[in-house]
Amino acid sequence: MATIAVVGGTGTAGRMVVAEALRRGLEVRSISRRRPAPESPKRIPGADYITADVASGQGLPEALDGADLLIETLDAKSGAALKVLPATSGRLLRAAATAGVRRAVLLSIANAGQADYGYYKVQAARARQYQRATVPTAVIAATQFHDLVAGIFSSGARYGLVPVIRGVSFQPIATADVAGALVDAAMEEGVGSAALHSTRIIGGPEVLTMRQLVGQWKTATGRKGMTTPLPLPGSLGRFLREGGNLVPENTYGTITFSQWLESLAD
Ligand SMILES: NC(=O)c1ccc[n+]([C@@H]2O[C@H](COP(=O)([O-])OP(=O)(O)OC[C@H]3O[C@@H](n4cnc5c(N)ncnc54)[C@H](OP(=O)(O)O)[C@@H]3O)[C@@H](O)[C@H]2O)c1
Repeated sequence: MATIAVVGGTGTAGRMVVAEALRRGLEVRSISRRRPAPESPKRIPGADYITADVASGQGLPEALDGADLLIETLDAKSGAALKVLPATSGRLLRAAATAGVRRAVLLSIANAGQADYGYYKVQAARARQYQRATVPTAVIAATQFHDLVAGIFSSGARYGLVPVIRGVSFQPIATADVAGALVDAAMEEGVGSAALHSTRIIGGPEVLTMRQLVGQWKTATGRKGMTTPLPLPGSLGRFLREGGNLVPENTYGTITFSQWLESLAD
C-alpha cells in the first residue's frame, strides 16, 4: 500500500484530503506543526499525525521518510510566513526528492498568476516551484472554497451586516471535491504519458453573484444581518469585479453551495 504525506493535513482543505486518501486505501500521514488532540475534529481516524515545521525544515526529513506520494495543502495567510511560502514549498520539494517521494501535488488558487495582489502572487510563485521541481508534480488550482464564502458572511453577521462586494461573483467549490482532484493527481503516477509537471484548473459547479450566495446562506443558516453592498478597492477588488476568479470553462466540482450548506445542518 502506498504511503501519502499530506502536508498541512490538519487544515481546511488538508482534512478533506486525509479523509479522501484513507477512503482510497492509502496509508496516510498528516504533517503539521501541531498534532491535533485525540478528540479534535482536525483528526481523522486511521491517519498518522506527525509534527514538522516545513518553513524551518525541523523534523521534515523524518516526517517524509518512507513517503511515496505527497500533497501540499499548507498555507500562511499573512506576515513573514506568507512571504517565505514559495521558499517553504521549495524546501518541501527538495526534502521530498531526498526522501524518494515519487510524485508531489500542490493545491493552489485558480488564476492566481493573473492577480496583482500579494497573497495571490505568493500562491503563483509556489506553483512555479512545483513546475521546476526534480520530482514529477501536479498543481491543482481551485476556485474559492464554499467555506471561504460562508466565512465572509458569518464574520460580517456577527456585527449585524452581511457584506456583498459590489459587482463580484464566485464559483465556489467544496473542499471534498478539491480533495478528490488532489488525490486523483497524486495517484496518476505512471498513467499513460503523464507530463513531468502538469497544472489543472478546477472550479465549482455554478457561478453565482454574492447577492445570490448570501440569499442561499441566510435561508440555510437562519442567520440574520443586513445585506450590505460594499466596494472593494484596490487590485483584489478589480480582479474579482473583472471575474478573474471565475473559470466557467473548468467546472469540476459537483456539490453546489446550497447543497454544501444543507450538509452542514446534518
Ligand atoms: N480558501 C480558499 O477558498 C482556497 C481556494 C483555493 C485554494 N486555496 C489554497 O488551499 C491551500 C490550503 O488552504 P487552507 O485554507 O486549507 O489552509 P489552512 O486551513 O490554513 O491550513 C494550513 C495547514 O498548514 C499547516 N502549516 C502551516 N504552516 C506550516 C509549517 N510551517 N509547517 C508545517 N505545517 C504548516 C497548518 O497546521 P499548523 O498550523 O499546525 O502547522 C494546517 O494544517 C492554500 O494554499 C490556499 O491558497 C484556498
